[in-house]
Amino acid sequence: MNPDLDLLQAYPFEKLRQLFSGLQPPAQLPPINLGIGEPQHPAPDFVVTELTKHLPLLAKYPSTRGLPELRQSIAAWLQRRFQLPAVDAETQVLPVAGTREALFAIAQAVCKRSDNPLVLCPNPFYQIYEGASLLAGARACFLDCRSETGFLPDFDAVAEDTWESCQLLYICTPGNPTGAVTPLPTLTRLVELAQQHDFIIASDECYSEIYCDEAQPPPGLLQACIAAGIDDYHNCVVFHSLSKRSNLPGLRSGFVAGDAAIMERFLLYRTYQGCALPLPTQWASVAAWSDEEHVRINRALYREKFSAVLEILAGTLQLQRPQAGFYLWPGTPVSDTEFASGLYAQQHLTVLPGSFLGRDGGDGNPGEGRVRLALVVPLDQCIEAAQRIRRHCEAL
Ligand SMILES: Cc1ncc(COP(=O)(O)O)c(C=O)c1O
Repeated sequence: MNPDLDLLQAYPFEKLRQLFSGLQPPAQLPPINLGIGEPQHPAPDFVVTELTKHLPLLAKYPSTRGLPELRQSIAAWLQRRFQLPAVDAETQVLPVAGTREALFAIAQAVCKRSDNPLVLCPNPFYQIYEGASLLAGARACFLDCRSETGFLPDFDAVAEDTWESCQLLYICTPGNPTGAVTPLPTLTRLVELAQQHDFIIASDECYSEIYCDEAQPPPGLLQACIAAGIDDYHNCVVFHSLSKRSNLPGLRSGFVAGDAAIMERFLLYRTYQGCALPLPTQWASVAAWSDEEHVRINRALYREKFSAVLEILAGTLQLQRPQAGFYLWPGTPVSDTEFASGLYAQQHLTVLPGSFLGRDGGDGNPGEGRVRLALVVPLDQCIEAAQRIRRHCEAL
């Protein structure tokens, strides 16, 4: 067996299963799960129609590059959404089977094993970044995202020689679990650092369409490239997904876009990994990237949930409305694992301990003392969950 597999940690949900094992939640309370960030609003009808209409195409092999129509709809969306002067659908866009596998694959494609690679990633983080780095033969270095720095990494504190050794920087904006949006000037600074020290930035923007203020959509890395005068997106790639934007986590559809030189090598890698999108999925994706109305409705639903839950929890937990995403990231009155176990055992409510999403990179685990609440369940369940949390805290 590949010994590097021993480096991989159990996934947070496996740790949660172990934490809860042996606990007996009250049977009279229906279970509510805010632990998993799986969107649960209905998939848009017009996308499902498009998918079923193209089912006969299951009889054909799809190509890894994807249909030109899909790449064009993605390029057009990117240009509209981030005011980009040009995105070349031929050389700068590649559809992927959800961003999860693509975020893993990028490290395999770009890390140069012979140079003792270093990968930087936020902490807490989406666990794929760490596994991808380790299986690419790299060391993962964690940049803590704490409340003192607006839940963003303190990039100014990164030493010059760390930037110099860095081959790949993962960023996540808006962040999971914090919801923090990296401002455009910070993204622009990162683009400049990537040119100066010749590392690649993989910007995970899969929550970019779930934001609180309609007038302030989160900026993206490609936008920052243009602001920095890097018109060919050199050293930069972004990851976008239909999972959260369009409530299609089961469709497994997203894309990677950016630097054509990286995309060319990435395509070669992906030809071997073999994760081409089925043709009905591609046509359904064309429809989804071409419509914004369903996304506006989606955002409104999350906004309603945030308002209701924040009102109930005001004064109970230390928490704030995030700029984007669908998570709350409150501080806990007792340790995060004790809080999560208590909520499960006494309220039949599942939340994710923050420490399961972070690592101790030398200064303690920045996820400790926080829990992640995914407001994905219907509004009435979110309200009921908030009331249970309130009751639980009052009884502590
Ligand atoms: C930060 C982040 N990135 C990427 C993904 C992967 O999403 P998908 O593979 O559905 O595009 C997730 C899923 O939860 C996520 O939270």
